[in-house]
Amino acid sequence: MNSFEIIGGNRLTGELEIDTSKNATLPIIAGSILSDETVVIKNIPMISDALKMLDILKQMGSSVVLEGNNAIINNSSLEHFEIPKELESEIRSSIFMLGPLLARHKKARVAYPGGCDIGSRPIDLHLSGLKSLGVKVEETHGYINCETERMKCGIVHLDFPSVGATENIMMASVLSKGRTTILNAAREPEIVDLARFINSMGGKIYGAGTSTIEIQGVKKLHGTEFRPMSDRIVAGTFMIGTAMTKGKVRLTNCNSEHVYSLITKLHNSGCKVEVNSDNIYIECNKRPTSCQSIETQPYPGFPTDLQAQMVALETISSGTSIVTENLFETRFKHVPELAKMGANVWVKGRMVFIVGKRNLHGAEVSAGDLRGGAALVLAGLAARGTTIVSNAHFVDRGYENLDEKLLALGANIKRS
Ligand code: UD1
Repeated sequence: MNSFEIIGGNRLTGELEIDTSKNATLPIIAGSILSDETVVIKNIPMISDALKMLDILKQMGSSVVLEGNNAIINNSSLEHFEIPKELESEIRSSIFMLGPLLARHKKARVAYPGGCDIGSRPIDLHLSGLKSLGVKVEETHGYINCETERMKCGIVHLDFPSVGATENIMMASVLSKGRTTILNAAREPEIVDLARFINSMGGKIYGAGTSTIEIQGVKKLHGTEFRPMSDRIVAGTFMIGTAMTKGKVRLTNCNSEHVYSLITKLHNSGCKVEVNSDNIYIECNKRPTSCQSIETQPYPGFPTDLQAQMVALETISSGTSIVTENLFETRFKHVPELAKMGANVWVKGRMVFIVGKRNLHGAEVSAGDLRGGAALVLAGLAARGTTIVSNAHFVDRGYENLDEKLLALGANIKRS
């Protein structure tokens, strides 16, 4: 059952509650390592990346119990400082454990991380940030060995506002003696959520969401119950799917501010988008107009995690567009697959050129990564005929039961 089979043409209509954010949950699971008391992470999404992160904790000696969607974690018996290599190679986010393991054990050993292949994803910023905190880093035979006698405080300047590096450094310094300042920190909402989580355990992190984050070290963190934020990328994916199928959908449990860059683009495409406290209503009655130019940027710019879905939308919009990918240089595996569906789309360097066509046709296509796979599913919903998207496991990394949710909104989709 590793494919989605879609018969295109149905409009998405109805209401959908957005799940908890993958990119907030993963570092929060890693952050639980900072406390010896019980941490309850509520409403975690049932996606393979989150379950793998919990497995890593279990294999390192922690107690992890899933009660429905709540993960009850107790790390008091976590003795290991090495992440099991076979699990780590599957999930890049295990790199988030480096910071909390160092804060806890003063040493950590990780293999180079895996995850979706969307371009070279170095971890030099994580490592240089840790070095600024006095951590000795040695790279041997594909492993990174980190050790410190005492975490230093002071200033860490990031050359680029990397989300993962900001999160790792926040977690590494939270139990230090003194104050650490991260300059040129990433400003993504998931960083604000991680700070809220750590502060709910007694941490003292200030300024998350701005480019200067201050971490006042504390002796110990206590247990907590925490519900991470909702998933802005999942919300964005459904918004784009609604626009592509000329649908009408109300999304609940979402923060419109987090997807404002997309809302602006959809407005310009001719969609009606209304926002109310925690919900977004989107309606699209006619063929969307192309956005002409989209560039991915760190938050609050247009997210790279919605680039592929947006390319799918542009393939059926009227007009031409250029989508520039500034974060991950080879994140274009969806482009040749969309072309198999009749799209007039090609890549040159970091740019995707699209001449919109009224209709795509169904085809057998293959997901090459998480968001690219979601883009192909959306294209299948809008295309004429049957589309088979193979390698659905990529999509399962970040979308909980995507097929069931689309089915509930009226799509003709099943697993095969
Ligand atoms: C996180 C998200 C991912 C999203 C990305 C950008 C999670 C689990 N993943 O990934 O979904 O696409 O943010 O919004 O939250 N870089 C370096 N050196 C480093 C680290 C990063 O050069 O040490 C570069 C990367 O190659 C990339 C850019 O910085 O070009 C952004 O990466 P980063 O913000 O670190 O993304 P992730 O944390 O990996």
